[in-house]
Amino acid sequence: MSALNGPVMCIVGARPNFMKMAPILRALAEHQPPLPALLVHTGQHYDASMSDQLFTDLRLPRPDINLEVGSGSHAVQTAEVMKRFEPAMDEHKPSCVLVVGDVNSTLACTLVAVKKGVPVVHVEAGLRSWDRRMPEEINRVLTDQVADRLYTTERSALANLLREGVAEERVCFAGNVMIDSLLSNRPHARPPADTLAAHGADPALVRAAGGYGVVTLHRPSNVDDAATLSSLLGVLREVSERLPLVFALHPRTRGNIERFGLQHLVDNGRMALLPPQGYLEMLGLMAGATVVLTDSGGLQEETTALGVPCLTLRENTERPITVDEGTNTMVGRDVQAIRDGVSAILAGQGKSGRVPENWDGRAAERIAADLYRWLQAGAG
Ligand code: UD1
Repeated sequence: MSALNGPVMCIVGARPNFMKMAPILRALAEHQPPLPALLVHTGQHYDASMSDQLFTDLRLPRPDINLEVGSGSHAVQTAEVMKRFEPAMDEHKPSCVLVVGDVNSTLACTLVAVKKGVPVVHVEAGLRSWDRRMPEEINRVLTDQVADRLYTTERSALANLLREGVAEERVCFAGNVMIDSLLSNRPHARPPADTLAAHGADPALVRAAGGYGVVTLHRPSNVDDAATLSSLLGVLREVSERLPLVFALHPRTRGNIERFGLQHLVDNGRMALLPPQGYLEMLGLMAGATVVLTDSGGLQEETTALGVPCLTLRENTERPITVDEGTNTMVGRDVQAIRDGVSAILAGQGKSGRVPENWDGRAAERIAADLYRWLQAGAG
């Protein structure tokens, strides 16, 4: 029996979901025959800079449904998404619910769907940091346990899933949809100097002969504790004396810098402090950077695809291929490791890496083709 009897309900909630969903929606529409889709935005991220701008940059259609949940504790946010998503499912009777990544909205919609007997499709399955203190790790493990069809971005993910008892037939190595977005948008990336000028920062910082670095930090483990944040900002200040930095500040990080009184660490005239950037701005900034310092999951992959050295300020990564084959080096929160990592890159010893298998701009197309076959075969 075919399960192609309703739309694919596609869920986005937070910033890193948008660049993954854009190519999937296009591939579903371009598949022959097209797969009908409905876009649901949970509203987990709601600021213009965290959400609306990315919709514009990525040419995402306006969401068909916006659940407008906003911020809250993990429990409140997850529960609100669940409460508001259930009636939307009842109304639209999807053939399946497609979730991406590892944010709270991913897990919340998965739980609603699976308990209603509607198949769940997880894109970017099987990544593991093995660190259960990360909320994203809990979201990943639980989503994968109950998802019916799992699309992976790197081969190590299958081994992780098999270890957790997921049947191999449920898993398909599709590649990395985020890199689909990166490759299709690369020609439209905004020049870094324009981005700085647009925010009243000195464009000369990114035109300096020695290059510039890009920084993003937002993990609670890095920014919610005053001593940790102070130590990281201290070493970034030191780094900025050697290499000017462009720091795109997540609202959580900006708030904590103010709350902990740490502004003095970032005001040396060598760091451009910007609000969260649009997709095309961030792409331009990364592509032109000498080094990216980050705790983001997505940036680890994007720098690998761009061939730009990345220093990841975390103890672990759920994306090991970026270290094994790509340009990523894990430096944790160790100030000496951060200093040494930057020194090596400035000495021309940064990793150049290679682009991993199936990060070729066609992952979404493979997902649409497989999803069609799978739904037609009854989504079993
Ligand atoms: C979420 C994801 C994380 C992802 C990150 C990207 C989870 C568990 N975490 O973390 O995996 O890497 O998004 O940004 O889902 N806020 C605003 N405006 C917004 C959204 C948030 O000001 O549009 C502020 C609020 O104070 C909020 C805080 O940021 O409490 C955190 O937002 P939240 O969605 O809870 O988690 P993120 O840290 O953004």
